Amino acid sequence: MTAATQFYTTTYQKRTAPRGLFTPAAAPFTAAQGAEVILPAPAPLPERDWSQLHAPKVRPAGALTLEQIASVAFHTLGLTRYEPTEHYAFHRLAPSPRCRYPTELHYVALRHPHLPAGLYRYHPVRHTLQPAASPAWWASLLATAPVGCADGWLLSSVPGRVRNTYGDFSTRLMFLEAGHVTEQLRLALDTFGLEGADSPLTADLQWEVPDTEVPVSAVWHAPSPHAGPVADLPVPLGRSLLQRHSGHGFNGMFPRPARLLASEVERMARYALSRTGDQGSLHALIRHVDGLPAGAYAFDASGRPTLLRRLGDPGESDRAAFIAPGFDVRPCPLVWFVAVQTSDLYASDRWEPYQQAHGLAGGLAQRLGVAAAAYGLFARPAVSHDEQYFDWLFGFTRTGQTTLYEVLVGRDRDQGFPQRLGRPVTTLV
Ligand SMILES: Cc1cc2nc3c(=O)[nH]c(=O)nc-3n(C[C@H](O)[C@H](O)[C@H](O)COP(=O)(O)O)c2cc1C
Repeated sequence: MTAATQFYTTTYQKRTAPRGLFTPAAAPFTAAQGAEVILPAPAPLPERDWSQLHAPKVRPAGALTLEQIASVAFHTLGLTRYEPTEHYAFHRLAPSPRCRYPTELHYVALRHPHLPAGLYRYHPVRHTLQPAASPAWWASLLATAPVGCADGWLLSSVPGRVRNTYGDFSTRLMFLEAGHVTEQLRLALDTFGLEGADSPLTADLQWEVPDTEVPVSAVWHAPSPHAGPVADLPVPLGRSLLQRHSGHGFNGMFPRPARLLASEVERMARYALSRTGDQGSLHALIRHVDGLPAGAYAFDASGRPTLLRRLGDPGESDRAAFIAPGFDVRPCPLVWFVAVQTSDLYASDRWEPYQQAHGLAGGLAQRLGVAAAAYGLFARPAVSHDEQYFDWLFGFTRTGQTTLYEVLVGRDRDQGFPQRLGRPVTTLV
């Protein structure tokens, strides 16, 4: 068994990560080198209605045009939000731990009328494509391309951007973030009416955290074998994608009190699970939802909640939901938990299930974020919960699952709220 699978847990690995032992964090958005392809301005996300989104996509005759490449790249990893007064100024449509942005996006040209076959790295500051040297694993990447496919996308991850802060815990964050970005890429393709079939890539990684950039997933322009059932949100998808955010401020915040209706929570769950179906195991700590007593719930693929346990002392679960200081869970209407079968991770001696479990959790969390945005709420993905407590609360001690990832949902304060001056008084206890 590798260390990666043995120590997957939050409390052990995050608390004992050898922080600061590594070289200073590598900067994101590194300067352009050599020739680059200047992309046209991205087209705005179209406001397509939900039935159109679920209609079969038009098969592109060949590779994407430069404008399509620009639009998809920008709405996957472009810099879409600038918050100059906040601790983290640059934001994208997918979240990133402390905005370290380890994930890189490449356009993969196989048969393009203007671009020689190869990898082109998207530079979000310059909004350009930069030809990248073919990596050693180029042949194994090509092997995942469906027959007749002209082009696609590759996501890779740069460990040096997160390792300084997170030590050996970095691989979990890299794979979770890659899950978010892969899902965001698919959502951007959906919105532009383009096909996308993803195929997770598994680098032959060695423990410990690797030095070199690693490929994490490919999305080809080809029909998806697993398009999910119809699920929608109360506002157009394009608007939700642009509004998704993790809540302002440093790594911790004090949300405003918010309440939801049970039907709204069910709709969010249904939307999130419509891509993964039974594969995604979704649970929640419900705090302030009309029609659902405070407690621990499981959600099925149709979004129906089942009460597993009422909350005796909410203070206990609030503390367990964010064990690092700084985030006040009490005003949040709910906290989602994404669980996976970790008995599989234990049984395997390979990276593949470990990487895929995190990718699945990240993708589900991306959709939970988009769903929260449709209701004007933030969704903060985090690995700051006490997973032993939640494994007990959700009954996972009997099932072999564990809570891999959480998404805290709440109402944001105004930008610039003085978060570090002290604890504000709320009416909630
Ligand atoms: C994999 C992952 C892990 C994260 N872990 C935490 C965490 O433990 N605590 C926290 O407060 N925020 C966490 N975040 C949230 C990020 O700090 C947040 O997404 C980032 O500041 C970007 O904000 P935005 O999504 O509004 O652009 C995490 C995000 C990701 C993608």
